[in-house]
Amino acid sequence: VTEGLALTPPMGFNNWNSTHCRAEFNEDMVKGIADLFVAKGLKDAGYRYVNLDDCWALPHRDANGELVPDPVRFPGGIRAVADYVHAKGLKLGIYTSAGTKTCNSAGFPGALGHEYSDARQFADWGVDYLKYDNCNNQGVDARQRYRTMRDALRATGRPIVYSICEWGENKPWEWASDVGQLWRTTGDISDSWSSMLSILKQNLPLAPHAGPGHWNDPDMLEVGNGGMTETEYRSHFSLWSVMAAPLLIGTDLRKASQATFDILANEEVIAVDQDPLGRQGAVVSAADGRWVVAKEMRDGSRAVALFNESGTAQRIATTASAVGLPDADAYTLRDLWQHRGYNTAGTIAATVPAHATVLLRVSADPRWADHPPAVELGLDGD
Ligand code: DGJ
Repeated sequence: VTEGLALTPPMGFNNWNSTHCRAEFNEDMVKGIADLFVAKGLKDAGYRYVNLDDCWALPHRDANGELVPDPVRFPGGIRAVADYVHAKGLKLGIYTSAGTKTCNSAGFPGALGHEYSDARQFADWGVDYLKYDNCNNQGVDARQRYRTMRDALRATGRPIVYSICEWGENKPWEWASDVGQLWRTTGDISDSWSSMLSILKQNLPLAPHAGPGHWNDPDMLEVGNGGMTETEYRSHFSLWSVMAAPLLIGTDLRKASQATFDILANEEVIAVDQDPLGRQGAVVSAADGRWVVAKEMRDGSRAVALFNESGTAQRIATTASAVGLPDADAYTLRDLWQHRGYNTAGTIAATVPAHATVLLRVSADPRWADHPPAVELGLDGD
């Protein structure tokens, strides 16, 4: 039942980055997000999973050992939320920990020792995705803990995407490709430039380990949460896409600006993330904060991120051959934020503002060779 799950990186929403355990994490929020997925075109853009994080349950199991949804947050229970989300053609995700309790100090129950019954309960509710955290793990071997839940999910017979959240502590990229469909590679992201950058640098070298059904997870998106500039959020979204990261929206869309929607719904950028070849982009060069990251696409083109880490504008340059394209007389560059095409004889370069990313799709395919030279329109050509 896990065959064919997450053949492209999961896309959806998770409440954690915007609410943590605050009271606004509740049934209204989850339904409101599902409504907006449909109303704002995010469902059409590929977003499917509406995921609950920590704090959805009561601190104690019932007399039968079952998990009990918090009746204040989820008065109709989890099944009602799943039904609501499913009726919109979307999917529901839930959370627990591979430990005796979750991470929150209120001491919500974890699934260690309850894997089969908790998985059964999730499946009965109609859950489609499980994020399995690492707190209070009692020192039990991670491979054992995460495999037991994998087996428990399989035993339900329901296809449930399985997100391993052990923060990269036990190098899951080395052993988890037949355990879960994605694994966190780092500690938690926060809504700051420095956090985003640090996670980026930890996740980039892991490119060889990602592929269809087994993704590196550099944590959820912070786009829209206010701690970065719009330029920085565009870099965050571009870089996560070029890394074939799960795209889990982490902002409360009920309060989101149009600028936030415009970033999250950029279908040309999403197509980079969701490319069916399933390659994670790799670093081509990175001198003095001038990053070139290239991702092979199924159609033979390359997605190329020219990312300026530095605080001043920089010319960032590479070539068609350096990003792995075959020899050709001319190449087309498509700027995925400007939505415009250019021609080049082989140089791929742009003057990139501080903290910005120019995201390109570069192809040797001559079909589109009727574009203006890149130099005329602000990108450097040759
Ligand atoms: C730690 C995880 O890494 C976070 O993403 C979040 O799920 C919190 N735990 C919840 O307690």
